[in-house]
Amino acid sequence: MKYTLKFRLWHWFNAFVVLGLLGTVFLRKTFLSWRANSEILMTQLSQMGVEITTAQAKILAKAIRAGMWEWHIILGYALSALVLFRIYLFFKDGSVKEKFGSLSLHKKGVQSLYYLLYATLLFMAVSGLIIHFYEQLSISKSLMEEIKEIHETVYNFILIFVPIHIAGVIIAEVKDEKGLISTMVNGKK
Ligand code: HEM
Ligand code: HEM
Repeated sequence: MKYTLKFRLWHWFNAFVVLGLLGTVFLRKTFLSWRANSEILMTQLSQMGVEITTAQAKILAKAIRAGMWEWHIILGYALSALVLFRIYLFFKDGSVKEKFGSLSLHKKGVQSLYYLLYATLLFMAVSGLIIHFYEQLSISKSLMEEIKEIHETVYNFILIFVPIHIAGVIIAEVKDEKGLISTMVNGKK
């Protein structure tokens, strides 16, 4: 058994949750962007003869976005639990993996990218929870805003990792690692 059942379940739940989190960010920045939608609301309402201020339009647009964004937080809790579970797996999992030193240069690169991703996911979970609970944690609003900016900057690494990883495993599967993807499904090698 290359990957234990626990490890494979972790991988696919994690993939689902991370893609979901990216989905909520995508919606927030596009179709549910308060800037774009507050303008739509103002123009449409004004055509109906209702004049509202920019501030009011902003409140409406943010209210429309709120239900969707709750999913960022729900998936965020799920990610935090998955990060904890991955730490548990680091110590207690029986998946058979080659030692870093014996890997080819290419695989060392791939493995390093995974380590970087793990560090990033840990950071996203911790910073996300801090932004969400800053009042309960007695953290000042200005510090929270700074952490939020770093949270948003580090997000770019995940945005880049995901397509590279998916393209990478597909290319490896087609070229010289046949069965790589099914290994992550059935665990066998
Ligand atoms: C949906 C399409 C995906 C497929 C087909 C896929 C497939 C795979 C495969 C085959 C491996 C083993 C590759 C190897 O040995 O180097 C792997 C590893 C990994 N995948 Fe994915 N993956 C997908 C999505 C994701 C997503 C969205 C994430 C989350 C960011 C993710 C995170 C990881 C990590 C961290 C590893 C390394 C596990 C370890 O050995 O510690 N994967 N994936
Ligand atoms: C893969 C993991 C994550 C990614 C890629 C991600 C991405 C982002 C991005 C890009 C933003 C800025 C959105 C914007 O202002 O346009 C953001 C904000 C935020 N994220 Fe995350 N996030 C992740 C995990 C988490 C987690 C685990 C939590 C905690 C529950 C969390 C909670 C928040 C909160 C509270 C905000 C601020 C929203 C606001 O300003 O109203 N995030 N996230």
